Amino acid sequence: MSTDAATTTDAAARAGIAAQTDAAAGVGANADVLVIFGITGDLARVMTFRSLYRLEARGLLACPIVGVAFDDWTIDQLVERARTSIVGTGESLDEAVFGRLASRLSYVHGDFADDATYARVAAAIGGASSPVFYLEIPPSLFATVVKGLAGAGLTEQGRVVVEKPFGRDLASARELAAELHRYIDESQLFRIDHYLGKMGLEEIIYLRFSNTMLEPVWNRNFVDSVQITMAEEFGIPGRGHFYDPVGALRDVVVNHLMQVVAAVAMEAPAHGDPGTITEMQTLLFRAMVDADPAHYVRGQFDGYHDVDGVACDSTTETFCALRLEIENWRWSGVPFFIRTGKLLPVTATEVRLVFKEPPRLGFGLRDAASRPDELVIRLDPATGVRIVLNAKRADAPKPRSVELDMEFAAKGGEGPTPYEVLLLAAVRGIRPRFTRQDTVEAAWRVMQPIIDDPGPVHPYAPGTWGPPEADALVADHGGWRRPWL
Ligand code: BG6
Repeated sequence: MSTDAATTTDAAARAGIAAQTDAAAGVGANADVLVIFGITGDLARVMTFRSLYRLEARGLLACPIVGVAFDDWTIDQLVERARTSIVGTGESLDEAVFGRLASRLSYVHGDFADDATYARVAAAIGGASSPVFYLEIPPSLFATVVKGLAGAGLTEQGRVVVEKPFGRDLASARELAAELHRYIDESQLFRIDHYLGKMGLEEIIYLRFSNTMLEPVWNRNFVDSVQITMAEEFGIPGRGHFYDPVGALRDVVVNHLMQVVAAVAMEAPAHGDPGTITEMQTLLFRAMVDADPAHYVRGQFDGYHDVDGVACDSTTETFCALRLEIENWRWSGVPFFIRTGKLLPVTATEVRLVFKEPPRLGFGLRDAASRPDELVIRLDPATGVRIVLNAKRADAPKPRSVELDMEFAAKGGEGPTPYEVLLLAAVRGIRPRFTRQDTVEAAWRVMQPIIDDPGPVHPYAPGTWGPPEADALVADHGGWRRPWL
C-alpha cells in the first residue's frame, strides 16, 4: 500500500467507515458528482459546508459539487457563503483546504418546478455516471425535484438523499414513498436520520456487543427500566415555521430517539456488517408495542406562541415524555421511558439503564438512600460512559453510590460529526447509514396511536424539566434521573 493510500485509509477509519467497504454491506459506486439542492439554505449554512470542508481536510472528497437553488447567485457568492458558513461554525479556516473545496463548487440557479432547471443541472454534471442528488429542501418539494431529475434522464444511475422528516404519520410516509418510487427505486433512496451518523450510537453497539461483562446483564433479568433523555437548553429561534407543524414527537422521537432505542435494545447482529445491523434494528421496531396514549405526556413552554412562525393558538408540543414497551424475550416487562424538550435546564442526550435493586440483606446493609446500579451512555454534548455502583465510602456507614466515568474523547480523540459521516456515506453509496422504508413505517406504526390521540398539551416554564405530569410516568421506577453532564 502506498503512503497516500495508507493515509486515506486511516482518515477513512477515523471517519467511521472502515468496516463499511464490503459490497455485502450495501455499498454502491463512488459518486462522480454531488449535486446539492437547497445549497443557499439554512441547513447548508450550519451543517453542509462545514462537513464538506472537514471531509476535504481529511482528504476524503474526490468529486465535483454542484449547488442548485432558486437564488440568482454567482459562483463567487456561493464560495463566499461557503467561507462565512464554515467560519461561522467555529472552524479555523485553512486556506489551502478551502481553496480545494472551492474549486469543486459550481452553481445552477432555477425554479425546481421548471424543466429548464434540470437541463442546466444535466449540463453542469456533464454526463456523470454515478451522480448523488442531496435534497436539503422541504419534503413537499421532494417529488417535484425527483420528477424533474427523472425527466432529464438523470436518475437512472443516481442516488437521491433526502432530509427528514419523511412523512407526518404512517399514511403520509407511505404516500411519499409511493410518489418517489414512481421515479426511483428504494435502493436509490437514502433517507437521512443524522443519529445514524452519531458516534454515540456506535458506542452503544460496540459496548453492548464487544464486552463479556455487559451482554449477560443487558436484559429483563437484570434491568428494571431504561431512561432516554434528549434535553435541549435552547428553544426554536428562527425555526418557528418549520417546528410548529412538526412538534417534538415528529421532530426527534419517531426518528432520532427510536434509533437510540434500537441500538440499546436490538438483538446481537449475527455479522458485523452494517446491513445486518440495520436488519436487527428493523426487527426490534417490529417487536415494539404500539405506544399507549395513557403513557404519553406533552408539554409546551411558556412563551411559545410569541415565537416567530408559530400559530397563536398552536397546541404543538415542545416537550414530550412517553413510555414504550418491547414484547420479546429480552425486554418484556422493562419500560423504556423517553423524554425530550426545548428550553429545558441543560443540553444533554443520554441512555440510562437502571438495574434492579440488589437484595437488602438480613443485617440491613442497604438503607432508604441506597440506589440501584446504573449504566449511562452519553451521546451529547460529548460521548462517554458512566457506571454507577454502590461502594463503601468513608463518609457513610451504608453503601453509597460511586461513579466510574469515561469520556471517549480522552481515548482516541474526537470522532467525525454526523453529517461528515453521512455525506461521505452518501458519496460512497453506503446504504445502511440511511433509513429504509420498512424501518420508517415500523417507527410510525409504533407512534400512530399517540399521533391520533395526543391528549392535552401542558404548559411548562422555560428552564424546567417539562410539565409535572411527565413525572408520574416514571414514579414507580424511581423518577427521572438528572442527566450526567
Ligand atoms: C434535529 C431537530 O433533527 O435534531 C432539532 O430538527 C434538534 O430540533 C436536533 O435540535 C438535535 O440534534 P443533535 O445532534 O444536536 O442531538
